[in-house]
Amino acid sequence: MMAKTIVFSNRKGGTGKTTLSFNIASYLANKKYRTLLIDLDSQAHSTIHAGLNVFKLKYTIYEVLIEFIKNKKVNKDVIIKTSKLDLIPSNENIAALEIELSNFKNQNSILKDFLIEFEKDYDFIIIDTPPSLGLITINALVASDYLIIPVKLDFFSLVGIANMMNIYYKINSMYAPNLKLLGIIPVNLNSRAKISKEVFKEIENTFGKDKLFPFLKQDIKFVEASSHGLPIFKYSPKSSGSEAIRKISKELLRRISNLEK
Ligand SMILES: Nc1ncnc2c1ncn2[C@@H]1O[C@H](COP(=O)(O)OP(=O)(O)OP(=O)(O)O)[C@@H](O)[C@H]1O
Ligand SMILES: [Mg+2]
Repeated sequence: MMAKTIVFSNRKGGTGKTTLSFNIASYLANKKYRTLLIDLDSQAHSTIHAGLNVFKLKYTIYEVLIEFIKNKKVNKDVIIKTSKLDLIPSNENIAALEIELSNFKNQNSILKDFLIEFEKDYDFIIIDTPPSLGLITINALVASDYLIIPVKLDFFSLVGIANMMNIYYKINSMYAPNLKLLGIIPVNLNSRAKISKEVFKEIENTFGKDKLFPFLKQDIKFVEASSHGLPIFKYSPKSSGSEAIRKISKELLRRISNLEK
């Protein structure tokens, strides 16, 4: 079996990309799927969420991608094995890659080429991206089979969603023809706000009901779990957040197995 690669992306900040990438990757790993989480964000939130000290990393995604560009060597020592989940960490260095990549002819597919070496090692590769649509995110989209967009149910999402979809369609048709939209995760951090319902309707109209995942609702346990370097189902197994991660992950597995038939 070849790894299925799933990217969480939204160029808007703070929509739950990292929370979902880390917790879903941890869930899959816990269910015995061989899972690799790749942090592509210079904020290194996934890396920190996994309980790692960003100042003590020997290698990060930045160094190994540069090494790969220079001499085609894939340095697997970059992988940090936590109890179940494997992780390729990041730190602020990766911001430089945005500029350095622009000098290369195959600037959009460096990550894809790099990951070929890992296809047999994993069932799932999960990529957490920065809140932007620069070269780093384009590399993630090109390297992936499936795109999941977490959309926060607030006013600015309502304004931005059509525009964002245009950009994804463009990237899709120009660079990443194999990428499929697996779905949208509605992230509702303020369930009483009237605007949430309007945004939800808009998402439903734009994408159709079948593209919607179960909701991610507000649960302070997510924040606490991240500060303890733990997935939510370890930190607080009975929380509503844990239940949401379980539901979303099961739905993800169901959709992928349907599509791979
Ligand atoms: N369901 C939730 N309930 C409560 N807090 C949450 C929830 N999901 C995420 N958060 C918190 O909201 C903040 C933003 O979430 P997260 O870091 O996952 O978003 P992001 O899209 O990765 O942000 P960025 O664009 O900066 O990378 C974090 O502090 C996170 O702990
Ligand atoms: Mg993030």
